[in-house]
This record gives sequence, C-alpha cells and structure tokens, in this order.
Amino acid sequence: MSETEPPLKPVPKTWIAAIAPYVPGKASDDSGRPVIKLSANENPLGTGDAARGACARASADLATYPDPGATVLRQAIGKAHGLDPTRVLYGTGSDELLHIAASAYAGPGDEIVYVRYGFSVYDIAARRVGATPVVAPDRDYGTDVDAILACITDRTRVVFVANPNNPTGTMATREEITRLHTALPRDVLLVIDQAYAEYLDPSDDDGGLELAGSMPNVLVTRTFSKIHGLAAERIGWGYASAEVVETLHRIRAPFNLTTTAQAAAAAAIADRDWVDRSRAHNHLWRQWLCAEITALGNYGLSFVPSFANFVLVLFRGKLSAQAAFEGLMQAGYATRWLPGQGLPDALRITIGTDEQMREVARVLKNLAEAS
Ligand SMILES: Cc1ncc(COP(=O)(O)O)c(C=O)c1O
Repeated sequence: MSETEPPLKPVPKTWIAAIAPYVPGKASDDSGRPVIKLSANENPLGTGDAARGACARASADLATYPDPGATVLRQAIGKAHGLDPTRVLYGTGSDELLHIAASAYAGPGDEIVYVRYGFSVYDIAARRVGATPVVAPDRDYGTDVDAILACITDRTRVVFVANPNNPTGTMATREEITRLHTALPRDVLLVIDQAYAEYLDPSDDDGGLELAGSMPNVLVTRTFSKIHGLAAERIGWGYASAEVVETLHRIRAPFNLTTTAQAAAAAAIADRDWVDRSRAHNHLWRQWLCAEITALGNYGLSFVPSFANFVLVLFRGKLSAQAAFEGLMQAGYATRWLPGQGLPDALRITIGTDEQMREVARVLKNLAEAS
C-alpha cells in the first residue's frame, strides 16, 4: 500500500487502540464451571426485599421509555443524604459518571491524575478521551495526597480518587481530602469516587459530599452496585455543583437508567435496614478474615487494612498469590489476582457469606501448610 492510499478498514484513534480492556471479575473457571464469585465486590446477602419488589412491580410496564429525569430516584437520594435533588446526577453504573466526567473536562493534550493501584476504569476513562493518564505513586498501597499534588501541572484537568480505594481498600482521611482539594487549582475537577462509602463507620466519612455541596470543582460518585445489592441493574449517582451537573447531563446517555433500575434504586436507598445489615455483616466477616490471615503470618500472608467489602491479601512466603488464586479456584472460589495492576503478589477477596468466608480461610490454610 502506498502512503497516499487510504487504509482498507476503519482505524481506531491511537489513544483508543492503546486501551487495555477492563477485566471483569471471574464467575467461572477456565473450563466454564461456575464458581462462587468473590471477585467483583458484590453484596453476598443479595438484594433487599424492598428493592426486589419495586423492581418486579416496575417491570409491568416495559413498553414505554423510563423517566428521563429519574425524578423519584433523585428525590429519594436527596432525602436519604440530605442533598439537593436537582444536583443529583445518575448514570448507568457510576462507571458512566466517571467516563462523562473525563469527557466533559479533558481531551487530547490534557492530563488526568490518579493513584497507582487506583480503580482500573480511571485509566480507560482518561485514554478514551485522548487525555494522558498520570499515575501518582501510592503510600503503603493508599492515596498519597502529596504525591498527587506533585503530579499537577497546568495541563491537569481531572483528579480521580477512590475513597475507599479499590483494589486496596485503603482510605484517605477527611483532613487529607480537604488538603488535596484546597491545594488543587480551581479549574481541576476532583472526582471523589465513593463506591464503597456505605461500608464506612460514620466517623470515617471523608467529607466528600459536603465538599461537592459547597465547591464548584468537586464531583462525588456513588453506586447501587455494592452495598445496595443492585449490580445487575447498573445504577450510579453523583453530586456536584449545579454547573458541573448541567454539563454532565448534556453528555450522559438519554434514558440512561431503566424503569426497573430507577424503581429498585429508590426503594433500596430508603431501606436503611438492608444497608445496616449488610454493613454489619461486612464488618464482622472482614475482621474475621483478617484475623485468619494474621494467623497465617508465618507463611508470609498479610493484608492491607480495608475500609471496604474486600481485603487485599499479600503473599510474601512460599505460597504465591497465583498459587492461592488457582487453589481457591479449584475449590470453587473466584478471587481477583491482579498482576495486570502491578500487584502480582496480592489477591483481592470480596467478603462473602459466613460459609464462604470459613471455606476460603480453610482452603488458604491448607494451601499455605502444603506450600
Ligand atoms: C472504586 C469503584 N468505582 C466505581 C465502580 C463502578 O461501579 P458501577 O459502575 O457498578 O457503579 C467500582 C466497581 O467495582 C469501583 O470499585
């Protein structure tokens, strides 16, 4: 082909071709056998009856488009969190909100900053719009505010911070988040991704919603996929200044929340019992799993203290993370081994049911003893 001839097929933009696709948590082993999924941070207790019932009732009308303004859901979110419903955004998963935040404020030549071992979608969201991802070093697997600030240039447009962070479970304090926001240039959008915030004790709140309520350059995102047990319905929400909200509304997909999703989410956010029960279950079994890992310390196992519904377990002895991943898979449990995210010696394990946690700990102990 001469240089002047056009290509014979569509050619993706170079920045799209450079994207490493998102890797979802496994639900089956290599032979296709279904396994118990402790690889996607879903709620092991499932979905509350209120949300399930609302979803079923809403499915009676599937022929008409959903409410494009998600009015009932926005009001329910406003009521649950004491927020102005007109400033509540909604997305097909919080993923959509992360992507549209990047699209609205960054493009080729701009930079988007996030921390090493941050949520893997940030890299995709940055590259998708042609922006340059800039990765700040972590501190002990967690967010290092000074490292982020050292990465800020006059090309920085967006900073993503997951708090608590996935896959490490670490948490930046309210003081750190305030310090980060105060030091950022006012034309940089700080996205505080609170996908796991409902698992926190109230005293650990990072103040993100207050910042989003009062500052022009803060977007908080949340999800119904985790504690609310609605991952299948793909519902995220966000809170920001009226101007940011108005901007993001322009580019979200029209009718981006289905009728069943809106109804289920509105019921779920009002169901405090389900949230409290799920949080209590998570605290109990996260602590229990961490104690079991501590007991395997002689075999080189340790963990990163977690504020979320998963624990990052580190393997520094004879038993490697890969062997533990494979052993657990053989026993019927999918976890997340993360070499692609620079964590070849770590497994992220979602907190499951009582039985699942006991079984995972038993398998890990057997594998460690046999190593
Ligand atoms: C930190 C973080 N943010 C956002 C999401 C996206 O959640 P969803 O699109 O299901 O709302 C996840 C999902 O794993 C996550 O871990």
